[in-house]
Amino acid sequence: MNTLVEKIKALKEEKNAVVLAHCYQNIEVDQVADFVGDSLYLSRMAKDTNADMIIFAGVSFMAETAKLLSPEKKVLLPRLESGCFMADMINVEQLKQFKAMHPNIPAVCYVNSTAAIKAECDVCCTSSNAVNVVKNLGANEVLFLPDTYLGKWVEAKLGGKVKVTTYNGFCPTHLRLRPEDIEASRNAHPKSKILAHPECHGKVCELADFVGSTKEIMDYVQNTSFKEYTIATEKGVYDRLKRDYKDKTFYLLKDTLVCQNMKWNSLDDIYNALLREEHEITLDESTSERAMACINKMFEITSKNTLGV
Ligand code: 13P
Ligand code: SF4
Repeated sequence: MNTLVEKIKALKEEKNAVVLAHCYQNIEVDQVADFVGDSLYLSRMAKDTNADMIIFAGVSFMAETAKLLSPEKKVLLPRLESGCFMADMINVEQLKQFKAMHPNIPAVCYVNSTAAIKAECDVCCTSSNAVNVVKNLGANEVLFLPDTYLGKWVEAKLGGKVKVTTYNGFCPTHLRLRPEDIEASRNAHPKSKILAHPECHGKVCELADFVGSTKEIMDYVQNTSFKEYTIATEKGVYDRLKRDYKDKTFYLLKDTLVCQNMKWNSLDDIYNALLREEHEITLDESTSERAMACINKMFEITSKNTLGV
């Protein structure tokens, strides 16, 4: 009898489908994934694949981005519950109010936003290229949404050269970390390097040894030879580092660093999505066109400038 993994692989071949998995997913998903990585890497893979179907093991804004980049492909989200609390913190009405309060300033949206929000913004960014995008947009001031912490981190990284006015969104998972958690972790593991995601609170980032996107955190581990690392982002990153670097020791800064939205997908869900071809992402033409302009601007800026990515 075929195992579930074998059945998924056979269905993928039959339907010319690929599975894209974010590195916050349950680690079992990697067994059937064609590509595993951060949101920027996955959006590049979505753009480049020749597959007819994309199964997005991630959250809905990521599947929407894949659909925008590959409109001719069928993009499926295995579980409809996989939203993003941060992306849901701003709707178009709220964005319009935010822009009206700060007129004539370009709006930069984090990729963690809906297609409808992207459609109203000038340029998109991911945590891997946010500094690059804001720096090279050529503006003295930008609006940044939805994440206030990523926006303020970008402003600090640019030495205050660009004023970043942020919307008050945040990630509830990363905000579970408090500065006292960093101190407690330092006391418990004084030699361990603390690696934090810029969605964490600014005070947490200040106390960390390194701040970067999920990919940058993984690259940091690959490119350094410390023995211990403390991971201050979602548990999926810790799980994969532990699996891939047996000669290093990893600690998860807090065991509640889990994004439930990312964890819905099981192998069963991926199998069912492939078999039944559900749940398909659809976007209306006008929203797609305007959201694509916002995403294309990001690719345009980052292809010209090599800082970050
Ligand atoms: P990355 O852009 O680093 O993949 O992060 C996405 C995310 O949702 C972080 O919470
Ligand atoms: Fe959204 Fe936070 Fe989950 Fe990332 S970790 S998908 S920002 S809720």
